[in-house]
This record gives sequence, structure tokens and C-alpha cells, in this order.
Amino acid sequence: MTTKEIREKYIKFFTDRGHVETVPSPLVLENDPTTLFTSSGMQQMIPYLKGEKHPLGTRLVDSQLSIRMQDLDEVADNRHLSSFEMLGNWSFGDYFKEDQLSWVWEFLTKEIGFDKEKLYVSVFEGNDIVPKDTESYEIWKKIGVNDTHIHYYDLKKNWWARNGMLPTNMPSGEIGGTTSEIFYDFEEVSHNPEFGSFCHPNCDCGKFLEIGNSVFMCYKKEEYGGLVALPQKNVDFGGGLERIAAALNNDPDVFQIDMFTGIIKKIETEIGVNYGTDSKKDRDFRIVADHLRTSCSLLAEGILPGNKLHGYALRRLIRRAMFHIHLLGSGISGSSVSHIAEDLRNHYPSVDKNWSFIEENLNLEATRFESALKRGLAKLTHAVSDGIKIDGKVAFDLYQNDGFPLELTMEILSQNGMNFSTEEKNLFESEFEKHKENSRSMSAGIFKGGLENKSDENITKLHTATHLLHAALRKILGEHVGQKGSHITGERLRFDFSYPQKLTDDEIKKVESLVNEKIKEDLTVTFSEMSLDEAIKIGALHFFAEKYGERVKVYSIGPKAGPEINSGRAFSREICGGPHVTHTKDVGGVNIIKQEKIGAGIVRLYASLIN
Ligand code: ALA
Repeated sequence: MTTKEIREKYIKFFTDRGHVETVPSPLVLENDPTTLFTSSGMQQMIPYLKGEKHPLGTRLVDSQLSIRMQDLDEVADNRHLSSFEMLGNWSFGDYFKEDQLSWVWEFLTKEIGFDKEKLYVSVFEGNDIVPKDTESYEIWKKIGVNDTHIHYYDLKKNWWARNGMLPTNMPSGEIGGTTSEIFYDFEEVSHNPEFGSFCHPNCDCGKFLEIGNSVFMCYKKEEYGGLVALPQKNVDFGGGLERIAAALNNDPDVFQIDMFTGIIKKIETEIGVNYGTDSKKDRDFRIVADHLRTSCSLLAEGILPGNKLHGYALRRLIRRAMFHIHLLGSGISGSSVSHIAEDLRNHYPSVDKNWSFIEENLNLEATRFESALKRGLAKLTHAVSDGIKIDGKVAFDLYQNDGFPLELTMEILSQNGMNFSTEEKNLFESEFEKHKENSRSMSAGIFKGGLENKSDENITKLHTATHLLHAALRKILGEHVGQKGSHITGERLRFDFSYPQKLTDDEIKKVESLVNEKIKEDLTVTFSEMSLDEAIKIGALHFFAEKYGERVKVYSIGPKAGPEINSGRAFSREICGGPHVTHTKDVGGVNIIKQEKIGAGIVRLYASLIN
């Protein structure tokens, strides 16, 4: 069964059971600085899991590309990916365990035809805070799952909150719940003793594969201390589309599913080596296929390679892919990397639609790195043959001067039988930190700060400021200016837009003054809900139209609330989920602090609030 068929069947199965199909969120959530990228389908659902009413009702379904690139080294095995599609269904205080578990079971065994003997499930064993989940155990038995296929596990395995947090280290306000997972048994694969003396469904050795996770999202962390019950009992399900497809193939290698075989075939033809013949080369194949898929998805949303945060994450992916293309010994040059990735157009409409932008920027970054790779490799080879120790400082210089990500330096060293100690790694990290460019530590910092009230308030203000800035840019530079990306932290906004060259000082001043003028005028910020068609008809600006649902919120900023705003006199009108301040004076004032040209025809502005 193709991934497309599985996705369609899943959506249909749940819409047939009263769910409304919603649109997956963008990979960078504009109003949620708590994680670098959208990493699960539930992220956009948090307010509704906490009790707010969702405009589409209490049952939703979608398929969300989720990025989890904390540990890129894992991607080299046959089942970990830097991004995967999460099939998701939600109940906001509507159905609960009984329906959820029987529906998921029915979907897997009847709809897409899994043999039930190959499936195992897990439930939470209980501790002194959260009771044992005997209810799910009984439901599984009633459904017909054999006792021997139901396993109890502790919090580490059967509790879910974002970023793998446990009740003890969740920040106040964060939500979580116990889980019931489903595993597929690759009977032909034998247990790998490196992962423990005996195998069980939740063992990480690769014999069993987790394919789905029902989270019973019922708890919230209190400000001081423990967990409290949420006002309603929710379901948050996530199923791994690629893994389900692999399990249906009864082949533990996720890279053998249709979504990846196109890329793999292209590499095979280009380099004349077949996948599956040399385990070292297989690792390179997988890294290239995985990283190019994630890179194209990020580029499709207007994210560009750069030195910080999202841009840096994308840069690492493209450069790492390039490096492994190099290891495969091919003659593929940076300027034709897009060739290998092109098959993704058949799987993702957004990649197809934005292909020329993706192609241009992917090849541009890969070409930039090609010369850096040559320089860096030459330096490393010299150092190695001259017996010079590659320490944290040298590695950092390679990063700074040649754009060589640390993991590549480490990989090259290990291929030459050399070690890079943890201390050296720490030295590198501290150098990196000094230059404020460590995307991982920055994203962790964002996470810590993200839930503070002060920062929430600033985010709301900066969000309204972003709309004002967008409108001001269009008024000053011309209507062809279009948003390409946006990201807000508690400290600043970042706005990417299409424009051929950097702005002059005079243009920056004009844009900034216009924004501040509109803040001083104390315009009203209102929203109304309407269909996407209506919103486009009244000229609401939108960003990647395919990302919106049928009904959207349109935020208007204008002299008066209500009909006035719809009569065409609004200063700004955008499709957006909010939240915003209600009056522009609340923003205070805005300072444009920096601009960069970040890609072919894209300019980036940073602005902060004047306090
Ligand atoms: N939110 C749950 C997960 O990511 C379903 O596994």
C-alpha cells in the first residue's frame, strides 16, 4: 500500500466517525517559540486540549509533518527519521479510551489489513501520582488482544508530554498524559543483545517497531508542585505514517517505502552502486534521502539556510546530505543536488508547487558547501597527517571559517580512527555559545523562557507588530512584497519577505516610522471568521494558502472595528490565528534592529519593542 493510500484511508476512516479534517500547522509555529520546529500534531491543539473551544468542533483529524532532529546520528539506522508524517486524531473532551482504542485497532487490522497476531500494545503501570491504567488493559482485552500481547510499562515509556518531559520536569502550564502504544513485530528479525538481555515490545533493538501512540491527555502541571486534572479528558493520537507503511511491507527498513525509493533509485543511477549491497554505503544513502526530504519540506515553507535557529538546522541538513553524497563517491555536484530530490514532487504538493524556489536555494546552499567541503577536508587531512591534534578550538575554527558543522568534523575524524573527546566537544560548544550560534542550546533556551507570562505578552505585541510591518513594507516598497516567513521570540520578531535587494537606510526609516505612526493612531485590532474564499476576496493577506482550513480567522487593523474594516479602509488585513493586542497603542513602539539578505530574492528584518 502506498503512503498516499494509507494517509487517505486514515483521514477517511476518522472523518466517517465524525472527525473534521483540519490543516496541519506550518513547520515553524509563528506564535509558539517553545520548540524550534513543529514536532507533533498536537502542538497547534494545545489551547483546545486545555479547554478552549475549537471552531471546527471536538473531533479532529490530520496528517502533520513533524520534525524531530535532536539526534541526527540516529537517522543512520533503518527506522529513525529527521521528519515524519504523523497521522493524528483528537478528541477535545469528547470520546475517550474505549472509542479511541477500538477505532485505532479497527483501522489497523480491518482498514489497512495488519495481522493482529503481529501487533502488541502497552499500557501505563501506575505510580504514586498517576494510577495504573487497568481501563485500557480491559478495553484491549475486550477488543480481542491476547493477554500476552499487552504489556505494562512505567512513566518513562508510557507517559507523553512535549520534548519527552516527565511530570517531574514539566514547566508549569505544560500538559501531558499516560499513553497506550501499538507495536509491530518483525518476526524474522532477531533480538540484538546490545539493547538488553531480553526482547519486549518496547525494546529499542529494532525487532519491534512502534507505529502508533494514543495519549490520554488529562493533566496539567501546576505552578507550584504537582499535576492537576485538565477540565476535560482528551485523546491525542499520533501514528507514524512511514513506519506503518514499512510494517505493512513487513520490511523493517523505512527507506524501502515509496516515499524514499524514488530518491534512492536516483542516487543508485547517479553513482552506480545499489542500495542494500554495502552497509556503510547504505548509511550514506539513508542520510541523503532523509535529509533531503526534510530540507525540501522546510524550503517549501520559505525557510532558508542560515546561521541561526531554523536556518542553521536546515543548513546542517543540506551540508550533511552533501557530505554523504561525497562519501558515496559520486560526481554529483552541489548545483545538481535538486536532481536527486526531485521525486519528492510526486509525494508532496507543496514541494511540487514551490519547486523552482526549492531547487534554486537547495543547489545554492549545496554549492556554497562544496567549496567549503574541499577546503575543510584539505585542512583536516593536513592536520591529521602532520599529527596536529584536532581539538575543540580547531573544530570551531573549521566551523566558523569553512562552515563545517561539528558533526562532520567528528565523522571525518572517526573515519580516520581518531577520537574527539567529550571535553573537546564541550570546548567547541562553549566557543559556539560565545558566538551565540548554537541552535540547539538556543532552542532549549527558548523552551525554558517560552512559557513565562512576560514573554507571552511580548509575543502578542510582536505578533501585531508583524502585521503592521508587513503592511508598512507593502505600502512603502510596493504590493509585490510578500511574506516568506516569520518567527517571534519573547525578545524580537523576524520577518522574511520577497524583495530583490536590501533596503536603503531611508526605506528602513520610512517603514519603521509608518509602523510607529499606526501604533500611535491606536487602531483597533479585530477578527472575524469566514471561509477562505471570502477572506481572499476581501484581500486578506495570506501566506502559503494551502496551509489554511476552509474556515479562517481574518485579523484587521483599522480606524474602527466592525464593518468599517471590511469596507477596504483597514491598514492591514491578514489571515491569521492570533493572538493579538486589541489596540495598536498596546504595542508601544517598534525598532527595526537589523536586516539581512538571506537568499535569492529574500530579505530578512529583525525588530524589537521599544519599552
Ligand atoms: N503527541 C503524541 C506523540 O507525539 C501522540 O507521540
